[in-house]
Amino acid sequence: MSNSELKTKWLKNYCTAPDQLDRMGEVKGLISAFNANVDAVIKVRGKDIEKLVESNGLDTNLILSEKEKAISKNEDAIRGILHCFKGGIAEEWLIEEVDVFYWLNKQVGYDKLQMGGQGGIVANAMAVCGVQNVYVHCASAPKEQAQLFLDLPNLLTTDEKGELQQASLVDRTNDNALIHWIIEFEKGDSLTIGNETCICPKANRFIATYDPLNFKLYIDDNFSKRMMKEDINPQYIILSGYQMLSETLADGTNGVERIDLSKSLIAEWRKSCADSLLHLEVASTQDKLVRKYLIESLVQDVDSIGFNERELIDILEVIGEEELAEECNQETNASNLFKGMLKVYEYTKCTRMQLHMYGLYVTLQQKDFKISPLQNRNGMQLASMVAAAKAGTGAINSKDVLMWAKGNEVSDRGLNELYGLSNTVRDIFGENDFLSTGIFSNEVIELIAVPTILIEKPVSLVGMGDTISSVSLVAAV
Ligand code: GLC
Repeated sequence: MSNSELKTKWLKNYCTAPDQLDRMGEVKGLISAFNANVDAVIKVRGKDIEKLVESNGLDTNLILSEKEKAISKNEDAIRGILHCFKGGIAEEWLIEEVDVFYWLNKQVGYDKLQMGGQGGIVANAMAVCGVQNVYVHCASAPKEQAQLFLDLPNLLTTDEKGELQQASLVDRTNDNALIHWIIEFEKGDSLTIGNETCICPKANRFIATYDPLNFKLYIDDNFSKRMMKEDINPQYIILSGYQMLSETLADGTNGVERIDLSKSLIAEWRKSCADSLLHLEVASTQDKLVRKYLIESLVQDVDSIGFNERELIDILEVIGEEELAEECNQETNASNLFKGMLKVYEYTKCTRMQLHMYGLYVTLQQKDFKISPLQNRNGMQLASMVAAAKAGTGAINSKDVLMWAKGNEVSDRGLNELYGLSNTVRDIFGENDFLSTGIFSNEVIELIAVPTILIEKPVSLVGMGDTISSVSLVAAV
């Protein structure tokens, strides 16, 4: 089949999107925990960074050096920007020194503030898609942070007294706002540091985060207790925020204990809703010990996990698949990544996992998982539509924008990835019509892939993965 025939076929597959959106309105409840924060978003040009380096007399050798992915000096922040700019990749590094936070605040500033953190972004996305009750955990919720939640009555969190209230109206006056810098850059821009010049191959972002509460996976007691009550029966619990943990936390306690604590609290929440589906958004977890523990311990408890290509490679690195990780690193395509997914599946036995990469989403699940392959495909198609609306308009703040990309064809890039993947699936499992249906199954696994709509000049990309994972899952009803 030619690409244009395939596009017609996929346009037809995508026709279910409006119906899937309506069905999200039948979902009664969902918890999104744990991380919500303020994102200070700024678009930078290479020239701005060059000026910043010059006017602050920063040490270019330090910026060009290869060191750990963490920020303790001003130069490290620029080193992170350069690293992502050069590779056209997204990474998040943690700021270890508060002085660097003040420096960024003064020197870099921001264009706009928006809701951030996987927990916050998922909550907004689910609420605007119509889920009846979305309960969002906030480590902190002063007015300036809470008002970044959408002004919707179905989006709730706990106030100072522990009562559920519309999240955007909450004002926990003793809390401090938690701010992350989202530094975005454009494809084709150039940046010169010392005698190195690079051209950015793909629009992307670097995140510099200073967030003492979420760094230790602080869990608000009021919220947790409220979620334990009988009247809270969510069908889905979407977890995130573990990625900021480190082996040893600033207060001397350890990250692994925080993961264990969260597990025991979630088990309490689930007493009244044992059937709820538990999903973990893996996110970019720099600390390898924490990453390994998440894969080995938390993943045992969850039904579903979500990751992007980088996060998948990171997982491979800690499950003894360094060689395959390197192969995926060298050639980051759907075929190699799928081989990686099979390894993660074998290792973790997690019943469902989803990869979202540029142009293609891939779900691998156990045969007869409670969401059928077709439901998955329908959910993933709606996710692609919503993601395109977010990329094209900059925000999905109201329901009327969600179908903005309706009628758009899927991208050539996505079809090419799907083509490569279907060859690999054929090599491993035999003949199939994966290319036009996006569905393959045998006696043990089910595989679903959806080529996505891509927007040429995205207004914003932050939070894309969180939106894709949550809509794919919850719209698969
Ligand atoms: C990370 C960042 C947060 C951002 C989110 C987007 O959680 O810390 O600032 O909003 O990723 O996925």
